[in-house]
Amino acid sequence: MNSADKIIVALDFDSEEEVIKLLDQLPQASFVKVGMELFYSTRSGLISRLKDRGLKVFLDLKIHDIPNTAYGAVSVLSRLECDMINVHCAGGLEMMQRAREALQGDTKLIGVTQLTSTSRQVLNQQLRIEGSVEECVLHYAHLAKQAGLHGVVCSPREVRLLKAELGKEFLAVTPGVRPRGDGLQDQKRVMAPKDAVLAGSDYLVIGRPITKSNDPARAFADILKEIEGGYYEGDHHLI
Ligand code: C5P
Repeated sequence: MNSADKIIVALDFDSEEEVIKLLDQLPQASFVKVGMELFYSTRSGLISRLKDRGLKVFLDLKIHDIPNTAYGAVSVLSRLECDMINVHCAGGLEMMQRAREALQGDTKLIGVTQLTSTSRQVLNQQLRIEGSVEECVLHYAHLAKQAGLHGVVCSPREVRLLKAELGKEFLAVTPGVRPRGDGLQDQKRVMAPKDAVLAGSDYLVIGRPITKSNDPARAFADILKEIEGGYYEGDHHLI
C-alpha cells in the first residue's frame, strides 16, 4: 500500500456541499471517513456518491448499545457496503460478537478502544477505569480480537504494543495524528504522521490538519512528504 492510501481524511462537515468543495481540492485522497455529524445530516445517499467518486469509505458511527441492537445496526449498515465500520469495545464482548455475526460482505469491523481525546486523568477520574490508557486499550483490543473484529481504533502511541501482542494482521486505525507544528485542538494522545507509520499504524485518520488548512492539497502533500521523505515544509496554517 502506498502512503497516500494509508491516509483516511475525516470529513467532519455538516453538509454535502462542504464535502464536495473539499474533495474537489483534494484529488490525492483515496479513503475518507464519514462521522456522525456528516451522516446524521446527509444520511446514506452520500455514502454511495462518495463510492461513485472511487473513494473508500470508513463509516465512523461508533455503535455502542445492547447486543441485539448492535446486531441490528450492523446488519443495516452492512448494506451500504462501506470499507470499514466500527463499534465501541466498551459495549463488551457479547455486543462485539453479535455485531460481528451481523457483518456482511467485505466490510471491515473495527473496535474503538479509548478516544484519542481521553487522557489518563479522564480515564481514571471520570470513566472510573483504573490503570493506564495503554492497559485499557490493550485489554479492549484483546476482547475485540476474541470477538472476531478485524482491528481497533487507538492512538498511534499504543500501536507498537498492540502489534506486538495481537499480531501484524490485526488492523491499527489511528486518529490523533498531528503534523509537527499543527495544533492539538481537543486531541490529547497524538503523534506525528511519520512516527505513526513507523510505529505500525495501518491507517492514519487525519481531519483538521487537512480539512481546516487554507490549502488542503498542500497540507496532504506535506504529510505525505513527511512520511516518505522525512521532511516537512509546514508552511500551511490552520484557519
Ligand atoms: O480533526 P482530527 O484529525 O482531530 O479528526 C480525528 C477524527 O478521528 C475525528 O473525526 C474523530 O471523530 C475521530 N476519532 C478520534 N479518536 C477516536 C476515534 C475516532 O479522534 N478514538
